[in-house]
Amino acid sequence: MGIKKYNTIMVNAGRSKRYTHGAVNPVIQHASSIIFNTIDDKKRATIGRTNGSLFYGRHGTLTHFSLQQAMTELEGGFGCMLYPCGTAAVTNVMLAFVSTNDHVLMSGAAYEPTQAFCTKILKKLNITTTFFNHCIGNEIELLIQSNTRIVFLESPASMTIEVQDIPSIVNAVRAKAPNIIIILDNTWGAGILFKALSHGIDISIQSGTKYLVGHSDVMIGTAVANKRCWTQLYENSYLMGQMVDANTAYMASRGLRTLSVRLKHHEESALQIAKWLENQPEVERVNHPALKNSKGHQFWKRDFIGSNGLFSFVLHKKLNAKQLANYLDHFHYFSMAYSWGGYESLIIAQQPEELATIRPSGDVDFNGTLIRLHIGLENINDLLNDLKLGFIRLQN
Ligand SMILES: Cc1ncc(COP(=O)(O)O)c(C=O)c1O
Repeated sequence: MGIKKYNTIMVNAGRSKRYTHGAVNPVIQHASSIIFNTIDDKKRATIGRTNGSLFYGRHGTLTHFSLQQAMTELEGGFGCMLYPCGTAAVTNVMLAFVSTNDHVLMSGAAYEPTQAFCTKILKKLNITTTFFNHCIGNEIELLIQSNTRIVFLESPASMTIEVQDIPSIVNAVRAKAPNIIIILDNTWGAGILFKALSHGIDISIQSGTKYLVGHSDVMIGTAVANKRCWTQLYENSYLMGQMVDANTAYMASRGLRTLSVRLKHHEESALQIAKWLENQPEVERVNHPALKNSKGHQFWKRDFIGSNGLFSFVLHKKLNAKQLANYLDHFHYFSMAYSWGGYESLIIAQQPEELATIRPSGDVDFNGTLIRLHIGLENINDLLNDLKLGFIRLQN
């Protein structure tokens, strides 16, 4: 049969008879209490509770096990924990591996709440954080301290979309301190575009709220761990009460089945729009990993198998409040909203000084307004027309 391709995994993983009861999809099993018929049944469930036995709702039901198995297979890990959102995945994964007086190395271009968790919550536990320049590469070695426990990466960067040289970072960290846990926020990669665990990452996190669910209607986080991290992650997350309800797990499973075709469409439209934007006189640069001039393009080309609908561009000029409102308030198909990964197109703007407040490593190298787009599944010509009208509004 050969090695299964990722789209075949997405369709089939987690769909054994145990989970589907003979239907196509897994059952939605709502449960807090699980009934044991005999003392022996209870003993068996207790022993197997970390390993797919029905034990108590907080450990999951068949619906959760199905999704966990599918995500584990997709990302090539040893196990998958589920969380109520991506942020809960990020924070609980970190908490599972740090103790008081430890040190964390965090990308200075990670998602803002991920950074804030370090400065606001970990700090209270006397855990220090060094934010490093996102494009650091193997020089990360110089920042490792004797108490460094975690290196946290996010690639591409939030908002500015630079791709990191993950193999260099991983090699440098492993050579100096093999016990450090390397965690990646792999939401952009969606479990397909970048194979985190086979690139030496210990735990791959996704905000499943984005492409996994894909319809902007459910929140979930996933963390797929390798063997060495799995038990500690599982036990800590369980103690922190992390689980999702069965409907949420089901919605994520459902999203998974069509993820590869959605992603392909997002990718094709986004790339076409990004190339068009490169030729617009108002645009200083386009941050899209598949474009030659985008930062980290060479790493994307080497390590990723594709791109998606999320990228950004920088205008030559910094728009004032009136210009920004005139630009953003009148799009037909681009809604102004946070998040991304749904079927719909989104737009959000950030001024360089706003970005600077969430770039502790100080690497904001532009003066114009940054616009982040998520390209949805609409007809591309409609989206292009919408963007063209936006540039016309900028001239007024
Ligand atoms: C890269 C990244 N990671 C994590 C999150 C947080 O996910 P959630 O909104 O599911 O908490 C987001 C949300 O926008 C994100 O963009």
